[in-house]
Amino acid sequence: MKRLLITGAAGKLGSMCRQRLTHLAETMRLSSRSDMGEAAPHEEIVKCDLADGAAVDALVDGCDGIVHLGGQATESNWEVVRNANIDGMFNLYEAARKHGNPRIVYASTNHTIGFYRQTERIDAASPTRPDSLYGVSKVFGEALASMYHDKFGIETACVRIGSCFPQPTNHRMLSTWMSYDDFVRMIECIFRVPVLGCPIIYGASANDESWWDNSSVSYLGWHPQDNAETYRERLDDEMGKPDPDSPNSRFQGGQFTAAGIQES
Ligand code: NAI
Repeated sequence: MKRLLITGAAGKLGSMCRQRLTHLAETMRLSSRSDMGEAAPHEEIVKCDLADGAAVDALVDGCDGIVHLGGQATESNWEVVRNANIDGMFNLYEAARKHGNPRIVYASTNHTIGFYRQTERIDAASPTRPDSLYGVSKVFGEALASMYHDKFGIETACVRIGSCFPQPTNHRMLSTWMSYDDFVRMIECIFRVPVLGCPIIYGASANDESWWDNSSVSYLGWHPQDNAETYRERLDDEMGKPDPDSPNSRFQGGQFTAAGIQES
């Protein structure tokens, strides 16, 4: 690609992608509403709020691909969730429609399906069961991506990221963990495949205790190589065995299922 846009570039995954995706494009355009430091020679830095439609329009202009990581990344009150994840998504897709239909990697979440029990096995066709306003906003994002694909041909990979961290930090992540390496490999496949469409992809490594079936996206050629199981003993030693009755042990979305609604 000539220019790849990474939104949320000041965040945890955005900072990682800023370092690890440089081989995918001549120029990286990095955006967030927070400080992103100095631009390297191959970088352009654009500070903007996703809720600002005119700013997002200018941001997307000239980009061949987008890794959309920007937005509210946990539960919050409706105003915050709506600005970043509802209005922000609409602004991004309107800009994409007006500026040449760049291919998009959309950071959705496991909280779109958080109320499934951990005993259930689900795939891309399973109905959503969001566990939070945050989860609902990501369901909206997936629906928006689907509509822009059917109507205008914009291709999006809706990645229901499990837990993308350097390593698992609790027992639930033995199922949900995705290594940084596996996420980078997935993004490479998404931009390499000739026809992407608008698939749902579960973002998890090759974990022994996975709940998610990704067979509908085998055409991507993505083969996760890491496995959270290698951390089990260390987690047992550090944390002891988890309480089987806690939300973190019962529901796929973990603690998010137990939280109330935050008032503005
Ligand atoms: P983060 O909170 O570290 O980064 C989010 C970024 O978005 C920050 O740079 C923040 O400044 C920016 N942002 C927030 N609201 C904004 C707005 N209104 N306008 C412009 N920028 C805004 O989150 P993280 O962990 O890097 O996650 C990235 C994406 O991946 C998020 O969309 C999150 O929902 C999704 N995700 C991440 C998971 C993980 O394990 N890290 C799990 C599931 C989903």
